[in-house]
Amino acid sequence: MATNIVRNENSNRPATAPISLRLRHCGRTFPGTRGSHAPHVALQPLDLDVEPGETLVLLGPSGCGKTTTLRIISGLEQPDIGGQVWFGEEDVTQLPIEKRDVGMVFQNYALFPNMNVEANIAYGLRIRGLSPDDIRRRVGEMVDMVHLNGLERRPVHELSGGQKQRVALARALAVRPRVLLFDEPLAALDAKLRDRLRVDIGQLLRSLGITSVYVTHDQAEAMALGDRIAVMENGRIAQLGTPREIYHHPGSAFVADFIGSVNRLEIKGAEEGQLMVAGGRLSVARYHGASVLYCRPEDIEVCPVTQAAITGRVLQTFFLGQSQRLFVDTGAETPLQVESPSREQWLPGQTIGLSIAEEALFSIADAQ
Ligand SMILES: Nc1ncnc2c1ncn2[C@@H]1O[C@H](COP(=O)(O)OP(=O)(O)OP(=O)(O)O)[C@@H](O)[C@H]1O
Ligand SMILES: [Mg+2]
Repeated sequence: MATNIVRNENSNRPATAPISLRLRHCGRTFPGTRGSHAPHVALQPLDLDVEPGETLVLLGPSGCGKTTTLRIISGLEQPDIGGQVWFGEEDVTQLPIEKRDVGMVFQNYALFPNMNVEANIAYGLRIRGLSPDDIRRRVGEMVDMVHLNGLERRPVHELSGGQKQRVALARALAVRPRVLLFDEPLAALDAKLRDRLRVDIGQLLRSLGITSVYVTHDQAEAMALGDRIAVMENGRIAQLGTPREIYHHPGSAFVADFIGSVNRLEIKGAEEGQLMVAGGRLSVARYHGASVLYCRPEDIEVCPVTQAAITGRVLQTFFLGQSQRLFVDTGAETPLQVESPSREQWLPGQTIGLSIAEEALFSIADAQ
């Protein structure tokens, strides 16, 4: 560890010169416990590449293996035999966590409650043996960076949740880690604070360019922070791509449904170049032969019935502030979800027309 710090302190290259992160064949099977004797496969053997300086988000429902993956990267958990973890050109599979040079930020802060802000941030620097002058300078930089000025001497048990999380972030960054790992860092905060810290963390990650892996089950957080997102399902990666790719071209029904809402349109047949669906027909040149198409609620527009591709009856409206969500019965098994501007007035029982642009429709390979 000390050698890393000497390298960071004395070299001319930026302290955060980013490295790549690679997992090769990293699976994790937990042995059966008292209640269930069968071993439990938490993670299928997984290959994952994170580019230097990239923020990769692991997104998925509870129990899908996000934390296990993060723990394998950190060294808190060993992969099953055959798995390898690479930091740049270094195989770190056998290195313990304290030698890997990772910074970690968790949901529960894991701060030292009786120490003040400064002492918490300085902790890792002291055990690495930096000089008091260097520590003071570095702590000052970190306090500025996470906007904790004025609170340096405050014991952390007197801080709010958001302030505590800033301390945790500063402490993780202070040691200039090679890899930064986040596990649901904002999950315990209220919505407003979560939004603010999300923006701050995003700015920091972009300006520092530290290779980072960020675990969340919040899709908005994933899209805002991830250069790329790996959507996980049952211990494997269901899809890996940029937020736009994942949102607009989901590779499976699971991904489409997990990220945002999606409408499923069953194709009942084709007539005169148009596809028949419940409540109307779609004029599309592509997708002939498809049995199901999908579209997002914000891609359906309410229009006069005379110009509509589909007509339906409003079942319910939900006012969301910035928009409203309509549930429209078109005769299909499930109502269509339509996002419409919040100032428009629609009443339950009203018949409305709907139009969908061809480019807003997509098919999904695994779903029929
Ligand atoms: N130490 C352990 N012993 C046995 N099973 C475990 C252990 N740690 C995790 N698991 C199991 O492995 C699976 C994946 O757990 P993991 O903590 O990686 O999920 P997660 O995606 O982080 O979920 P969450 O969103 O709830 O935090 C779960 O089924 C979990 O019960
Ligand atoms: Mg977890």
